[in-house]
Amino acid sequence: MSDASPAEALFRGKVMLAPMVRAGTLPLRLLALHYGADTVYSEELIDLKVAKLSRVENGVLGTVDFVLASGAQPVVTFRTDPSKERGRLVFQLGSASPASAVAAARVVADDVDGIDLNMGCPKRFSLQGGMGAALLKDSDRAASIISALRRELPARVAVSCKIRLLEDTASTVALVRKLVAAGAQAVAVHLRQVDTEYKVPADWTQMRAIMTAVDVPIIANGSIFEHADLAKLRLAAGDSLTEPRLGLMVARGALINCSMFRAEQEPLDLVGRRYLRLCALGANVIQNAKYTLQRMVQENDARTAAALGAHRSVQRLCQCKSMRDLVLAWCLMDVHGCAPLYGAESA
Ligand code: FNR
Repeated sequence: MSDASPAEALFRGKVMLAPMVRAGTLPLRLLALHYGADTVYSEELIDLKVAKLSRVENGVLGTVDFVLASGAQPVVTFRTDPSKERGRLVFQLGSASPASAVAAARVVADDVDGIDLNMGCPKRFSLQGGMGAALLKDSDRAASIISALRRELPARVAVSCKIRLLEDTASTVALVRKLVAAGAQAVAVHLRQVDTEYKVPADWTQMRAIMTAVDVPIIANGSIFEHADLAKLRLAAGDSLTEPRLGLMVARGALINCSMFRAEQEPLDLVGRRYLRLCALGANVIQNAKYTLQRMVQENDARTAAALGAHRSVQRLCQCKSMRDLVLAWCLMDVHGCAPLYGAESA
């Protein structure tokens, strides 16, 4: 264990898997760690739901499961593998209330290393509930959530938040300063404004001013697609390549090819097979594996703009009813080009 504070150890100069709803469950997080990510975020889970979860130690898988008792069958809502994730896992919360955020954070605090407040989600559900990007316009509320989390959680749990850019650099810097003063020990910045489409490249030029405004680790997020982009973003931000202080966070790049965390990439078909193996070993529900594989194919198609037939591959994955089906479908697919090999059959 290093002497650095928990937040420094998790974030400063580190490369991370971004929070991703549905995709960022245990198998993708383990895959990212396998390929060299330093820190991984859970998908965003809403505080009121998290507060209802019960902790179960799963002796068969060696995981800690947080289950929701809904109907006859309890649903595993969050699963962590302490043997691989201890010291590297940030749990992201959606919240609009200090009391609810603290109640939720306490449920998982013993099993995670950081609690992150989502301040960037633009979905209607979040905005209507005063969560996600609504907090960008209600910085007093955001600050009160952060300070409650910092006050109530043990010091070993880092408290951070993930924001978007505001309309100008000065406003973003002022927001970051306010959140840090409230107790945020790291701030991730998705370098787009709330209404900027994902196809617009993230604005890396904003990073330098934000990074130098505060002492806590700052994390840059947006348009990191390849391993080489990590160094390019550091250079754009004026960060050191040998002793980096800027954290870097990757979302779609890790779906396109999760092996981008290391210098020598593996082909996507192999990456997908490793992902499926982790799903099988971790008894991941098929719907989740299916969704993530579909996103891998779709994000590749979007990135290359090649229209190579991703929709047919996605349809084929959609039809799978078991892990066996899914493994077969993936292995028979020409995922390099995102086009199925069995064209006529699946048409
Ligand atoms: C996201 N993003 C996101 N952000 C967040 O704070 N919490 C979340 O749960 C999610 N969920 C999510 C799901 C999926 C499928 C995608 C693609 C994105 C946003 C994400 O973390 C990141 O900020 C953006 O995707 C920009 O980074 P990239 O994709 O340019 O690396």
